[in-house]
Amino acid sequence: RYEKIWLTLSFGVILIFMLIIGVQAFAFEHAPPSHKEIIDPQKVDVTAPFDNPGVFQTGENEYEVVMTLQAFGFTPHEVEVPAGAKVTFTLTSKDVIHGFQIAQTNVNAMVVPGHIQKVTQTFSKPGEYLVLCNEYCGIGHEMMAMTITVK
Ligand code: CUA
Repeated sequence: RYEKIWLTLSFGVILIFMLIIGVQAFAFEHAPPSHKEIIDPQKVDVTAPFDNPGVFQTGENEYEVVMTLQAFGFTPHEVEVPAGAKVTFTLTSKDVIHGFQIAQTNVNAMVVPGHIQKVTQTFSKPGEYLVLCNEYCGIGHEMMAMTITVK
């Protein structure tokens, strides 16, 4: 009799796991479009918005930074935004997987070729913020860095 209970229980557990995996797969499929969007890494330079990288004011206190990552640098290499503004970084890679980590913040994103990564950060304190690539991307990985100046 106990075996029957255990069998039913373990079967139930397996069913629950399968359900969880199914739900996760479904959720992943239906991730926000910004994370799913496909872009041809070879054509980044001629694909909007990456054909025109830079800092753009998008609202009263909102900015968008359009940036490309490539071995071994960031374009643009230097960015300036006002303190307290909501800054959205729109990122893509032109070659391999790079990282986008802003020192002194919680921003730590993976930038995958073929995809558009969006991260938002409000820099409350003025200063210079170092951005590092934290995914090994080749021989120049250690040198891949840029600066965000917050004024
Ligand atoms: Cu790019 Cu490491």
